[in-house]
Amino acid sequence: MRIIIVGPPGAGKGTQAKLIVKDFHIIQLSTGDLLREHRRQETKLGQAAIKYMDGGNLVPDEVILGMVAEEFKKPELKPGYILDGFPRTCPQAKGLDQLLEDRGLALDHVLVLEVPDSELVRRLTARRSCSECGHIYNMVFNPPAVDGICDLDGSPLIHRSDDTEETVVNRLGVYKKQTKPLIDHYQPQGVVRHIDGTGDMQDIYQRILAVLK
Ligand code: AP5
Ligand code: MG
Repeated sequence: MRIIIVGPPGAGKGTQAKLIVKDFHIIQLSTGDLLREHRRQETKLGQAAIKYMDGGNLVPDEVILGMVAEEFKKPELKPGYILDGFPRTCPQAKGLDQLLEDRGLALDHVLVLEVPDSELVRRLTARRSCSECGHIYNMVFNPPAVDGICDLDGSPLIHRSDDTEETVVNRLGVYKKQTKPLIDHYQPQGVVRHIDGTGDMQDIYQRILAVLK
């Protein structure tokens, strides 16, 4: 199964992708997570990405496409994957089309999570994630049992440097201008599924399951 999950910042792409991965035994490929790992390891790519990410702007297409092409070489991706946060621009979508075509593959679903802006800002400013396993928490909606500590592995939780109110507002604008038009790119393939991304996380997951099964 090959899926793309699209949605504005804070729509729950990471949260829902992690649930899908568990049930369908596929891999989550998040370009945001990959970039944060590059930053953590202080690679050249990671250092170059800082100014874009912390301003809430997109990292250049050629950097992202090079990074994804490397990931696509990994055998772990064979059973399927969910692409989270990629593609994000029309050139990236065309790059992905080529990567798939070269392998004789097609997409099964493009899930579009719909959430109003006011809710997104509330979710993001309260987000925390595990510094080791990446599990996603929210200080309001799903807090950890012990403040600041991951329930799963006891590691400290971090606050993403791009989750300030100012950066979130910019990220929302970037989504509307550069990423939302992508939905039209996939429309002719008949794979676009709009999902109501509001309400309880498990209810949203049930809506996704209804589409995937
Ligand atoms: P990326 O990491 O992809 O960030 P994003 O798209 O802004 O999305 P988020 O990860 O912020 O939100 P999410 O939808 O995953 O929500 P989550 O599940 O965590 O990208 C970061 C940056 O990297 C970009 O700005 C750019 O600079 C760069 N980048 C990455 N990919 C790129 C690309 N392809 N091209 C160019 N640049 C790229 O949930 C959010 C919060 O809400 C959590 O606290 C969660 O617990 C909570 N929550 C989730 N669901 C619910 C619910 N139903 N009710 C209440 N709370 C909820
Ligand atoms: Mg995410």
